[in-house]
Amino acid sequence: MRRHVGFFGLEWLLLAAFACIGVANLLGSQVLESTSMQCTYDIHESWETNCERGPAFAEAPPEVPWTPIKSFLGLPVRSRIGIAAGLLPNSRWVLPYAERGFDILTYKTVRSVARPCYPVPNWVFVDDLGPDHTPAYVIETVPADPIQISSSVCFGMPSFAPAFWREDIRRCRSGLSDGQVLIVSVVATPPPNPTIGEMAADYAQCAAWAVAAGADVIEANLSCPNVCSAEGTLYHDATSSRSIVQQIRDAIGNTPLLLKLGVFPNRLLMQQFLRAVDGLAEGVTLVNCISRTILQRDGQPAFGPNHTTAGVLGRAIHQPSVEAVREIHECITDEGLALAVVAVGGVAQISDFADFFQVGAHAVLCGSSPMYLPNLAVSTKQLHPEW
Ligand SMILES: Cc1cc2nc3c(=O)[nH]c(=O)nc-3n(C[C@H](O)[C@H](O)[C@H](O)COP(=O)(O)O)c2cc1C
Repeated sequence: MRRHVGFFGLEWLLLAAFACIGVANLLGSQVLESTSMQCTYDIHESWETNCERGPAFAEAPPEVPWTPIKSFLGLPVRSRIGIAAGLLPNSRWVLPYAERGFDILTYKTVRSVARPCYPVPNWVFVDDLGPDHTPAYVIETVPADPIQISSSVCFGMPSFAPAFWREDIRRCRSGLSDGQVLIVSVVATPPPNPTIGEMAADYAQCAAWAVAAGADVIEANLSCPNVCSAEGTLYHDATSSRSIVQQIRDAIGNTPLLLKLGVFPNRLLMQQFLRAVDGLAEGVTLVNCISRTILQRDGQPAFGPNHTTAGVLGRAIHQPSVEAVREIHECITDEGLALAVVAVGGVAQISDFADFFQVGAHAVLCGSSPMYLPNLAVSTKQLHPEW
C-alpha cells in the first residue's frame, strides 16, 4: 500500500526568492480579500442552479505562484492546500478552483443513485457567539471581514446520477495540471433496514466507479448516520467501519483512501476506530462540521421544522477542529499507526493553515471559505510555498 513520503527536494533552492516576492504580493491580495467580499455560490438560488451556473468570480484568476513539488499520500502535489468535499459538485466548479491554485480538489460526495437537494435555504451565515450546546442564529449582515464568517449548511447530501458523475470526473481529471490531485468523496445509499454488508457494497461500488473514472484518491464519508443500528454515527462504530473500509479497499486496489470523520465523543472510541482501519486506509479527514441548532432571529428553525440541527462551518469551528486534529494525531502517534491526518475546519487565513500544520496535519483543506475567499490558495502560496 502507498505511504506518504517526504519532500521531493531540488526545487527548494528557489524557495527563498519566491517567498520574498510572495510577502510583497500578499499585502495587496489580503486587502482585496477583506474589502470586496465576493460570493461564488448564490445562497438564494437552488443547488442545481448553482451547479449548472458554476462559480461567480468577481475577477479573473490571479497569477498562481510557482511552488515546489511535495508529496500528498505519495502523490506529487504543488501544495498540500485544497478544498474539502462540498463546494465542488462538478467539473464546472472543480476546474476554476484548480486554476486558482488549490491543488487538492475534492469532488463533492457522490452516491450510487441520484438524490435531489433539500429546498432553499441550504446555506446561511450565522453568528459565532455561544458555546457548543446553544443555538446559532442566522445573520443577514455578513461580517465585513470575511475571515470572521461562520455559516451553516443543510443540503441533504444530494448527488447527480452515476452516469453523469462518472463522465464528469473524467472531465475533471483531464483538466487538472501536474501537481494537482482529485479526491472523490463517496457515501452509501442503502435500502431501508440495510445490513452492514449492503452498506459496504454500496460504498465500494461508488468508490470503484470513481477510481475507474480517474479519481486519484477516494474519501469515504463515514460521518453520516449509522442506519444499520439506527443510532449514532457510522465512524463511532469501529466494527462496522472496518467492514466497510475493508470492502472499499478490496474494490480500489492501491488507490489512496481517506475516511471523513467528525469529532469523537471520547478517546476510547477514537482509539478503537483508528486501530480498526489502520492498514486499510491511508488517512482520515476531519472535521466534517459541528452540529448545532440553527435558528432564525424569531426562533424558527432556519432550515425548516425537519432539520432543526445542522452543521456549522467556518470561524466558529476552527479552534475545536484544531483540537480534534491535535488529539487524533497524538493518538495515531501513541498507537504507532500509519494514518495521515487531513485537516478541515474554519480555515480562512494563513495562521489557520499554520495552526493545523503545527499539530501534525499532512494537508489542510478549506470547506466554506473559498466561496468568499476564492484567492486564498494564491495568497497562502505566496507566503508559504513550502506548504
Ligand atoms: C456547500 C457545502 C457542502 C458540503 N457538503 C459536504 C458533503 O457532501 N460531504 C462532506 O463530507 N462534507 C461536506 N461539507 C463539509 C465540508 O467538507 C467541511 O467538512 C466543512 O465545511 C468544514 O470546513 P470549513 O469550516 O472550512 O467550512 C460541505 C460543506 C459545504 C460548505
